[in-house]
Amino acid sequence: EKGTYPHYMLKEMDEQPTVIRKIIQAYEVEDGQLAIDEDILEALQAADRLYIIAAGTSYHAGLIGKQYFEKMAGIPVEVHISSEFGYNMPLLSEKPLFIFITQSGETADSRQVLVKIKELGYPTLTITNVPGSTLSREADHTLLLHAGPEIAVASTKAYVAQLAVLALAAYVTAQASGKDLTFDLKQELAIAANGIQTIIDSKDVLEDIAEDYLKIARNAFFIGRNIDFYVSLEGALKLKEISYIQAEGFAGGELKHGTIALIEEGTPVFALVTQEAVSLNIRGNVKEVAARGAYPCIISMAGVDEDGDRLVIPQVNELLTPLVSVVPLQLISYYAALHRRCDVDKPRNLAKSVTVE
Ligand code: M6R
Repeated sequence: EKGTYPHYMLKEMDEQPTVIRKIIQAYEVEDGQLAIDEDILEALQAADRLYIIAAGTSYHAGLIGKQYFEKMAGIPVEVHISSEFGYNMPLLSEKPLFIFITQSGETADSRQVLVKIKELGYPTLTITNVPGSTLSREADHTLLLHAGPEIAVASTKAYVAQLAVLALAAYVTAQASGKDLTFDLKQELAIAANGIQTIIDSKDVLEDIAEDYLKIARNAFFIGRNIDFYVSLEGALKLKEISYIQAEGFAGGELKHGTIALIEEGTPVFALVTQEAVSLNIRGNVKEVAARGAYPCIISMAGVDEDGDRLVIPQVNELLTPLVSVVPLQLISYYAALHRRCDVDKPRNLAKSVTVE
């Protein structure tokens, strides 16, 4: 139930710090270490390549999951949109493991791939929020998101939970394979949960940004480099879904290859700056669009912030920035939708789970 909340989406965004803490609890074993089922760990360790299959927001989580598995565990990963997989079936490695990321566990496009992969006899793992869902039942293994029911059509807490569980699975696999990890994931996730809480506690700032940038905007761009690029895709999807503003996420460096032609006087451009290594480059992109009349909103992370950034989010581990940086984008979309009198929880033309192909 949404209780005193005006919308499920707002309630579900507010739950995000708790969701991360629940995930830590759910995957913690007696000695305080994080762990996943032995058979899942074995499946991950046995794979020479992971194939992540998902749609929408879950696909965006998969793009970040690829970074986690490649950077922490050293396992190559491909990420595929489920509805496209059948046409462009990749050449498979010798020992693939298929990972289906699906909040509902019922998405028909993803299930279609699962059915095909089972026919081919490859091992499968579903990462889902719904125990007993179709994709959970039909896959060899399941990792649960522990996010609690997500009712709003716009996925928020499930995305953050997907990132946390992907990070956890990659971390545990890396540990088991003797990789040298320089941080304690449990501690870093707890810091990220606190970081999200700080943002949630200053919603008025996000409401002001939404009013300032999006109340009458026709379109909006989200830009980022490296891991911030993937979060910008998710930020754009959130805004499109619930406010009906035409929005796109772009890699900062791609702007000059075409997209910059769309920049007009006052076009809102949200730029994420959480990665030190690319901070100068993305700030350069912001200057380029500003010089062409755009209205940029820099959302940076403490430690890579500069004077004049519109919002500075708390500092977290470099790999975990998406868990925190997505939250202001979710809230900006929410308030933009409210300012434009849209039905936040039930946007037009959309269903919570898409059970047709
Ligand atoms: O239940 P799933 O994670 O498989 O759903 C996939 C997409 O339909 C879903 O993420 C959709 O994009 C959301 N409405 C995004 O907010």
